[in-house]
Amino acid sequence: MTPGALLDGVFPADIAVAWSRVGDAPPELFPAEAALLAKAVEKRRREFAHGRACARRALAAQGAPAAPLLVGPAREPLWPPGFVGSITHDRELCVAVVARADTFAGVGVDVEPDEPLTPSVAARIWSPAEASAALALGIVPEDSAAKLVFAAKEAVYKCQFPVTRTYVGFHGVEVALAAGTFMAALTAPVPPLPSGFRFTGTWRRADGEILTAVWLAAR
Ligand SMILES: CC(C)(COP(=O)(O)OP(=O)(O)OC[C@H]1O[C@@H](n2cnc3c(N)ncnc32)[C@H](O)[C@@H]1OP(=O)(O)O)[C@@H](O)C(=O)NCCC(=O)NCCS
Repeated sequence: MTPGALLDGVFPADIAVAWSRVGDAPPELFPAEAALLAKAVEKRRREFAHGRACARRALAAQGAPAAPLLVGPAREPLWPPGFVGSITHDRELCVAVVARADTFAGVGVDVEPDEPLTPSVAARIWSPAEASAALALGIVPEDSAAKLVFAAKEAVYKCQFPVTRTYVGFHGVEVALAAGTFMAALTAPVPPLPSGFRFTGTWRRADGEILTAVWLAAR
């Protein structure tokens, strides 16, 4: 079964999308990638390998040659010059997206199991104002709302990283949900982005998963 209900039509046509099931046999890595996993447990090897394989398929769809995708100092994938991308994996699904850097400054994708966060974890993810606004909307079950805001923020984080190269904590953006979309505004400047800078995202819930997607046009 394809995760079509989660993925179909979420990204614009000029962002390439590839996915795989994390439970399937892990694809081969380049030796330089495998060397990064010397101390990794089996789960990490599997998700990393699926992420790299999906990223290579998405890169190939954008015309990039196959090459090792190494890891930067903030754990970010080192995309080939001229491309931006994003990788996500949970225990079921892996998704990678790739775009041309002359068209997009950043892209972000996140998948999460559609399961409730504990109240103490949720309190670290959203402010009381974000929580009450999200819950008042009634567009997502109460048990899923905090996880959806969490996934929205993680996709924003991945999207903003190539632009700012800065760690932004969960209270560094404020998310306002709408039906199938969300806005995420920076609560403080993250140079070169000003306070209040807005990202627009898309979300889907299907088959026990939440998917969030964000992209930022190149200026
Ligand atoms: C980096 C982070 C977003 C990853 O999310 P996650 O739910 O733990 O895991 P996912 O499977 O969805 O994503 C993991 C992938 O994120 C990517 N990633 C990690 N650091 C990244 C960074 N600095 N920039 C862009 N992508 C990054 C990697 O590709 C990683 O997979 P890989 O190690 O196999 O290559 C998360 O661990 C984190 O640090 N969050 C705190 C910051 C945040 O979310 N702020 C929100 C407000 S902006």
